[in-house]
This record gives sequence, structure tokens and C-alpha cells, in this order.
Amino acid sequence: MLSPKFLALLEPEDLKDKVVLDVGCGAGRLAFRLAPRCRRVIGIDRDTTAIAQAQQRAAAERLANAEFSVADAEAVEYDPFAPQLIAAHLCMSDAIIARCARALAPGEYLVFVAFHVDQWQETGRPSRFAYDEARLASVLRENGFIPEHLEVEREVTRFGTVQEGLAAAAGLEDRWKADSRWQRYVEFLERGGRTLTRSHLIVKARRR
Ligand SMILES: C[S@@+](CC[C@H](N)C(=O)[O-])C[C@H]1O[C@@H](n2cnc3c(N)ncnc32)[C@H](O)[C@@H]1O
Repeated sequence: MLSPKFLALLEPEDLKDKVVLDVGCGAGRLAFRLAPRCRRVIGIDRDTTAIAQAQQRAAAERLANAEFSVADAEAVEYDPFAPQLIAAHLCMSDAIIARCARALAPGEYLVFVAFHVDQWQETGRPSRFAYDEARLASVLRENGFIPEHLEVEREVTRFGTVQEGLAAAAGLEDRWKADSRWQRYVEFLERGGRTLTRSHLIVKARRR
């Protein structure tokens, strides 16, 4: 689900004459939501399957102002897309922030959701894309952004048994098994742990 708090930060923006870049767009759920409100929305993602799905949906819905391309968001520059607002939902890194800074003009906005370091802390392994509040604010400032909104959105699911804990993470099992997080989570449950934490940073930052 797209965070309602994140969507609320985009809500006041008048996008009708603007080009919006959606970084790490996946199958385009954010881009499709923004398309009716903006002149043009461009989604980029390195996942070819997700981009093909987004392109098929844009064609099926006859959306002329939604475009999707395969790109490594940490390698390409964004200024050729000429974005006037950049959005990203759960795809953020220092390299992406630096590219956003080079592409946006003063006064334009970067609005995003990033993984917080407490995301799935029960697995003992923060994502390489995760930030805490202080580091994120500092990276934004170093890149010429003024953070106008920076909030942690946290949800801790609690359960009574190991089985409920395993069920709570069922959709994550394959991904976590690939990098030892599943084993660590099982050990956490066996030691009596009964939580699963979801924690995101919701941010709106203005280019200086
Ligand atoms: C958690 S998913 C979020 C997808 C989408 N924003 C959404 O909310 O539905 C993260 C996305 O970032 C993409 N991604 C991660 N690193 C990337 C990179 N370096 N360049 C482009 N896409 C990247 C992944 O392929 C994935 O689609």
C-alpha cells in the first residue's frame, strides 16, 4: 500500500503543468496514481518485468502521459527527463539523492518514502538503502535540499506464537532466505521474540 502520509505530501502540489519522475517505480502504482494530475509522468526501474507490466497497463488504459523505462537509478542522470518534481516510494539511496539534486531546479520538490534502519530489525540486518533520521537529513542538506517534512512511520505487529510470527513474514520468506535474514528471524522467534517492525521515513525536501 502507498503510505497515505506520503500521498498527503504530494496532494497540495499543483502538478498539472509538471513532469514528474517516479524513481524505482516498480509496476507503476504511484505513477498511475499521479498521471491524471500531471502533464507527464515518467517511471524508471531496473526491473524489466515490472517496467513491461507498467507499459502494458499504460497501453491498456490508453494513458498518453505515462512513460516507463528500464534504467539503473543509481547510474543514469535524471536531467534528460527534465523533471519538476521527483517522487520515490521505497527506492532511495545517497546516489539517488545526488542525482535528484542535479536534476531539480531551486524550489522544486523531492518527495519520497525510504526504509528506516528499524525496518525488519528482527532480522538483524538493515537494508543498505535504510536511513536513520539524522543521516537522511544530513545527506539531504549536503546535496542542497531543505527537508521540510521528515517523519518516521512505524508499525509493530505483535503475535503470540512462533507460528504466527512465521505467518506474519510469509511473503518475505524467499527474499529473506536468499540472504540469511530468514534464519536470523527464526532464531529471534525461538528466543521468544514476538514482533515484526515496519518502519519508513516519509520525506518532502525542497531544492535550495
Ligand atoms: C520496494 S520496491 C517499490 C516499487 C514501487 N515504488 C512501489 O512502491 O510499488 C523497490 C523498487 O526499486 C527498484 N530499484 C531498486 N534499486 C534500483 C536501482 N538502482 N535502479 C532502478 N530501480 C531500482 C526495484 O526494482 C523495485 O521495483
